[in-house]
Amino acid sequence: MSELSIQRLTVAADKKTVVTEASFALKGGEIHLLMGPNGSGKSSLLNAIMGHPKYAVVKGGIVLDGEDITHLPTEKKAKAGIFLSLQHLPEIAGVTLTNFLHKAYRAQKGGEIAPLDFYKMMETRAKEFGMDPGFLKKHLNTGLSGGEKKQSEVLQLLALEPKFALLDEIDSGVDVDALKNVFAVIEHLRKKGVGFLLVSHYAKLLEHVHPDQVSVMKNGDIVATGGKELVEQISQGGFDAISSL
Ligand SMILES: Nc1ncnc2c1ncn2[C@@H]1O[C@H](COP(=O)(O)OP(=O)(O)OP(=O)(O)O)[C@@H](O)[C@H]1O
Ligand SMILES: [Mg+2]
Repeated sequence: MSELSIQRLTVAADKKTVVTEASFALKGGEIHLLMGPNGSGKSSLLNAIMGHPKYAVVKGGIVLDGEDITHLPTEKKAKAGIFLSLQHLPEIAGVTLTNFLHKAYRAQKGGEIAPLDFYKMMETRAKEFGMDPGFLKKHLNTGLSGGEKKQSEVLQLLALEPKFALLDEIDSGVDVDALKNVFAVIEHLRKKGVGFLLVSHYAKLLEHVHPDQVSVMKNGDIVATGGKELVEQISQGGFDAISSL
């Protein structure tokens, strides 16, 4: 079974330490939930795992299936099966989601598939999960609402079927009906063995997924790791209810 292991990862952004010695292990088919106050370092951790140039790994390592991938360039990490959905999605005019995904799909999976066949495959997949295939013809995130951008990311997830998906606030701004579709995709992929690290601020997420592990970050530290009871504690007492290890 696949495993993504984060080992005492320390991350700096703009020379400031924003994550200190974060560790966890995520297995294929598992869902981990990462929560924490604004500015606690959640996005910095995810971005550093993927190799975002603004987030430097200054100590520790990232191991995928026994192989040290800490300093691999982002495209190699993607090829190795890691997928990151950013919290704030950039708009890229001039490239349709289909064109973008067609390239990414071929780079990832190898082999050829004609653009029209790829489009039809994606259209079918989107409809299967109640998602609007119209996103496929739109330019990357351009002119999409916040929630639409997140749904468009989920179509990417469906196309690429990574080993591990790091989803930074994928539920943010998504309406109640679309949210069901988003989590149906996540559950479908989880059953196929994809491991998920979800960052969320919403306890309501528990209505849709059953996380195997919940971690709480404060000031760049993972201060608690446990089960769903942590989400309950946070809902009731805020992050002050979570005491440090
Ligand atoms: N590119 C950057 N340059 C400088 N500092 C940064 C950068 N990105 C994040 N930081 C700082 O790192 C800290 C953690 O930010 P991060 O975005 O990881 O928080 P977060 O837990 O994802 O918060 P939120 O819940 O609001 O998304 C903050 O103090 C932030 O100001
Ligand atoms: Mg964030």
